[in-house]
Amino acid sequence: VVKFRRLIVVTGTPGVGKTTFSRLLAKKLNAVHIDLGELALREKLVTAFDKKRRTYVADLKRISSKLRKLIKSIQHDIIIDGHYAANVVSPNDVNLVFVLRCHPQELERKLKRKGFTSRKIAENVAAEILDSCLLDAVNSCGVQKICEIDVTNRKRTEILEEALNVLEGRTGLSVGKIDWLKKLEEEGKLNRFISLPAYRKTK
Ligand SMILES: Nc1ncnc2c1ncn2[C@@H]1O[C@H](COP(=O)(O)OP(=O)(O)OP(=O)(O)O)[C@@H](O)[C@H]1O
Ligand SMILES: [Mg+2]
Repeated sequence: VVKFRRLIVVTGTPGVGKTTFSRLLAKKLNAVHIDLGELALREKLVTAFDKKRRTYVADLKRISSKLRKLIKSIQHDIIIDGHYAANVVSPNDVNLVFVLRCHPQELERKLKRKGFTSRKIAENVAAEILDSCLLDAVNSCGVQKICEIDVTNRKRTEILEEALNVLEGRTGLSVGKIDWLKKLEEEGKLNRFISLPAYRKTK
């Protein structure tokens, strides 16, 4: 029996829990986990330091070519973890993309805890509300390979189980059901999230 190697992308807004999830999934599948943020720093695949954002700017072209070589050399299943992962993989090589989603309010809390600046919190919360990583993934890999997982207030084991159910064909791929704008409106929180004065101040 020939078992084909799978390439699984894990994407989502910074701070949603991609690396935590990817590590657990890799352990379960006996797969190789590639953390793009770590790879970029270790291999110096960055272009510059963005002083305003206090972060390195990833060199997507060089990350992409490094990734192509790495993938060729690995026989195991591979998990590629990064918020721009969908933009650096060859879409044809990808079997499945998990897009981790997190309620904006919980994401905001997580990013505060991480010590992000208010500017970076605002950028990332907005990206989550606007489905930014989901759209990148859909545009790059096609909607039929995408599966969103809502990680809001859920245990690591629950999230892992949901992913395994999808990978093992017990449940279908879920896409397009998450709508944070609608959710925030229903919860009466929309105003705070789309016109937070604190966000304006950071401009
Ligand atoms: N299911 C969970 N429940 C509670 N806390 C979690 C869960 N998953 C991850 N975390 C915590 O949230 C924080 C962010 O997780 P993680 O580093 O995995 O996110 P990330 O998406 O990889 O972030 P980045 O884009 O910055 O690499 C960590 O402190 C992690 O321990
Ligand atoms: Mg990470």
